Amino acid sequence: MISQKTIDVVKSTAPVIKEHGQTITSRMYEIMFDIHPEVKPQFDMSAQANGTQPAKLATAVYAYATHIDDLGALKAAVDKIAHRHVQTHILPEQYPIVGECLLQAIKDVLGDRATDEVMTAWTEAYQALAEIFINREQQIYQTVAN
Ligand code: HEM
Repeated sequence: MISQKTIDVVKSTAPVIKEHGQTITSRMYEIMFDIHPEVKPQFDMSAQANGTQPAKLATAVYAYATHIDDLGALKAAVDKIAHRHVQTHILPEQYPIVGECLLQAIKDVLGDRATDEVMTAWTEAYQALAEIFINREQQIYQTVAN
């Protein structure tokens, strides 16, 4: 369950997330590949270089910010992303890595607007989204295995 407070704060950040989305996600990959170079082989580096992947992640983060109180609307998008994650062998234990880097990137790019309230809300919101992906990917992994 995502708290109402988190829903309200995350939704209030949607315009700024939209405006700076790709800057945030480009920064997130920069941080992640620097601190966790071991994840690099899972990524298509040409999709990084031409900005396709940061753009896709920015779209997903913005969609989440606007639909955090209407998660059913994200089902098709979650499904598509989860299948891609399974293809690239993403594991549950990798979610905290992306979370740490994404939250740091939000902080770096939003500067003064990344108040404690905003960071607390996004921390809770990321955790909830990670659980949605982890559960969906577990189902897909089981289907693939059988
Ligand atoms: C809540 C967290 C996450 C979100 C919102 C997210 C979002 C996305 C999106 C939108 C795509 C593009 C899917 C497509 O092409 O249709 C994607 C692909 C991918 N994601 Fe995630 N992701 C998350 C977590 C993770 C984690 C934890 C990892 C592990 C390091 C990861 C690794 C990847 C990889 C390797 C791809 C394929 C990229 C490529 O083709 O280069 N993601 N993700």
